[in-house]
Amino acid sequence: MRIGILTISTSFARGERADDASGDAIAASVTGPDLGAQVTQRAFVADDRAAIRAVVVGWADAGACDVILTTGGTGFAPTDITPEATGDACERAAPGLAEAMRAGTAIHTPLAYLSRATAGIRGRTLIVNLPGSPKAVRECLAVLLPLLPHAVAILTEQVRQHTPPSS
Ligand code: MTE
Repeated sequence: MRIGILTISTSFARGERADDASGDAIAASVTGPDLGAQVTQRAFVADDRAAIRAVVVGWADAGACDVILTTGGTGFAPTDITPEATGDACERAAPGLAEAMRAGTAIHTPLAYLSRATAGIRGRTLIVNLPGSPKAVRECLAVLLPLLPHAVAILTEQVRQHTPPSS
C-alpha cells in the first residue's frame, strides 16, 4: 500500500517550526509491521484551502498513492480549513472513517470530538484527515489502520465482492 503524508501547518510551512513530529508519527505507524505500507509522497503546506486541495488532487490524479493521510487543521480555529479543502478534492465522501476515529478514540479524551476531520475518495485514492498532534495521530491510526487494507482493496478493485476479512 502506498501512502502520502501531508502535514498542514502554517507555522511549519513558514519555517517557524523545524520538526514534523506528526508526519513522522504517521510514517512510523504506517511502515510498521501492522500495515507494512510504503510512504511514497510527503509534503507540508500552510492552512490554505486552495494549496491543500492542489497537493491532494496532484497526488491522487498522478496515481501516486493509494491513501493520503493529512495531519492538522481539523479543529475549530478560524484558520482550520483542512476538512473543507479535502471536500473540495474529493468526488465521494467516506464519513465513516472519521466517525470511527472520533468514537474509537474518545476513550482517551472527549476532545476527540473537537476534530472536524473528514474522509473521502478521489479516483482510486482514499483521503483521510487526522488531527494535528502526534498523540492524536497515534490514537486515530490505531483505529484507522486495521480498516485500510480492505478499504484499499475495494477501491482498487482487487476484491470485487465485499467479503469481510476475518477478524
Ligand atoms: N483526537 C484524539 N484521538 N486525541 C486527541 O488528543 N485532540 C483534539 C482533537 N482530536 C485529540 C483528538 C483536539 S484538542 C483538537 S483542537 C482537534 O483534534 C483538532 O486538532 P487540529 O486542529 O490540530 O487538527
